[in-house]
Amino acid sequence: MCGIVGYAGNKQAAPILLEGLSKLEYRGYDSAGIAVRDKDKPVSVVKAKGRLSKLVEKTDEGHAVKGTCGIGHTRWATHGEPSEINAHPHISGCEPKGGTITDDSGVVGVHNGIIENFQELKDKLLRHDYKFYSETDTEVAVKLVDYYYNKYGIGPIDALAKTMVRVRGSYALAVMFRDYPGEIWVARKDSPMIIGVTKGESFVASDVPAILKYTRNVYYIGNLEIARLTPGDVHFYNLDGDEIRKELTEITWDAEAAEKGGYEHFMMKEIHEQPKAIIDTINASVKDNEFCFKDINLTPEMIRNFKQIYIVACGSAYHVGVAAQYVLEDMVRIPVRVELASEFRYRNPILDKDSLCILVSQSGETADTLAALRLAKEKGVRTLAVVNVIGSSIAREADDIFYTMAGPEIAVATTKAYSTQLIAFYLLALWFGRIREVIDHDRCIALLDEMRTIPAKIEKILEDKERLQWFASKFSNAHDIFFIGRGIDFAISLEGSLKMKEISYIHSEAYAAGELKHGTISLIEDGTLIIGVITQGALYEKTISNMVECKSRGAYLMGLTTYGNYEIEDRADFVAYIPKTDEHFTTSLAVIPLQLMGYYMAVARGLDVDKPRNLAKSVTVE
Ligand code: M6R
Repeated sequence: MCGIVGYAGNKQAAPILLEGLSKLEYRGYDSAGIAVRDKDKPVSVVKAKGRLSKLVEKTDEGHAVKGTCGIGHTRWATHGEPSEINAHPHISGCEPKGGTITDDSGVVGVHNGIIENFQELKDKLLRHDYKFYSETDTEVAVKLVDYYYNKYGIGPIDALAKTMVRVRGSYALAVMFRDYPGEIWVARKDSPMIIGVTKGESFVASDVPAILKYTRNVYYIGNLEIARLTPGDVHFYNLDGDEIRKELTEITWDAEAAEKGGYEHFMMKEIHEQPKAIIDTINASVKDNEFCFKDINLTPEMIRNFKQIYIVACGSAYHVGVAAQYVLEDMVRIPVRVELASEFRYRNPILDKDSLCILVSQSGETADTLAALRLAKEKGVRTLAVVNVIGSSIAREADDIFYTMAGPEIAVATTKAYSTQLIAFYLLALWFGRIREVIDHDRCIALLDEMRTIPAKIEKILEDKERLQWFASKFSNAHDIFFIGRGIDFAISLEGSLKMKEISYIHSEAYAAGELKHGTISLIEDGTLIIGVITQGALYEKTISNMVECKSRGAYLMGLTTYGNYEIEDRADFVAYIPKTDEHFTTSLAVIPLQLMGYYMAVARGLDVDKPRNLAKSVTVE
């Protein structure tokens, strides 16, 4: 996920690009850059690592870069760490010096998405004497456009069409050709892109907020289509070069709603982004049913020799670890210990050298998790980071990295990062299980196929969200909520309870259902809400019994179970259903209604969902 913006008009482009990028920072913020062309003069490219403010400073708020046509980018790294050299725009020419290029490159471009076959294309271009200065797939795309442009000499449409046919993956690509000053050419497949027009000006952007200040009239460019933007005019083409006619659409959202893609809060937007984030995370590590973990260098021998796995993390990432423990122990038959990073680092742990320590963190900057990583390394233990932010401290220091593909997560309450961390563990469990011969080839393929059904099943749960909204508003004045479950259902309860308390400020606790009778049941009184999570067939009757024990003490029961278990309605007062899946993967589905419950409770109570009190997105102090 990255943000792109482009302008072709009669005003100075750079300040408009910077303003547009500021509205897209939610799509990525590890580096930014702009390329501006002043009539037929050489293009100027300026880039900076870090937040957009660095680029704003470097360009004197855009005034230092002259020209009326330009493209800009705010990056969320996927290929190559966040750095000035990897920042977009990229050029077809030679290595830029000092991050500011004034180079007469044939093609300069920005890109959002992932080019899956970039290595194959890079090898091809290397054979044709292209030189590469960055680690990005985008530089490959820009050079491929240049290659076809020069090879066939027919013009931009042909060069872009040939590139689109060769590239596998997703992209929203915006390029400027030296031979077409004042124009921007764009192409799209599976990555968002809109085009806006007004008198004498044209705009392109990843999302509406970037251009809303200038126009509300937009075109939606379709998959595998190309567009040519000149000041105030846009033409669309298909892959055959035939012109396509399109209707303008008027945007009626206000600016703030637009930034959240029409959702009221980032949290809801991110809840809905989970299916895509899961698909992206699977596709990044599984090609043709084979595992390919680009940043993991564990050998089969190492994996066979591990005697113990530690999972160390904080908050929701720790809850992922609790769920992963059940999955790993069952699929890999290796002992797993899950620890809170803030405890692990101070308890002088005895760590077996033949073990693997997995650190889980969305931000990659959580102070306790980072300290735990350093401790494990000091003790000679191999470390693997499951991290979302590329180039973060934990990613830099770990021996091996599994990057989740959640994209930037803005809401403090994690949703899509949590979901992709679960996927990371399912994939690791299958890979380790295969190598240690606990899982055979056919079962592995069947489980991978089942994993691929998770996104559609999440969509189905989301379709029924209004029922949960109704139920949440009914209980929005609750004082205490207990989430109970056994096994994996206990792990799900932990996350459900945290989601509830962190954003709705309602006291809630997660309990292993069998533990209630050892003390906590004395807290149950008339109307206390009990949410029983029951997705594991073997534990179904036992958890139901624990729920009924609470009901006989006055509790109101909500059950969360899979379709088919309809007899639960005789005992619970309200039931939410999720589709069936392999029981190892139920966390991925059962967590969705619980995220929605927390969200709707907070909304019903009129709270600031995205920025709950006393909390920060990244906890960089212990
Ligand atoms: O960035 P990290 O994943 O290391 O953050 C860990 C926790 O702070 C985080 O999961 C926190 O619990 C979330 N806000 C929960 O929604």
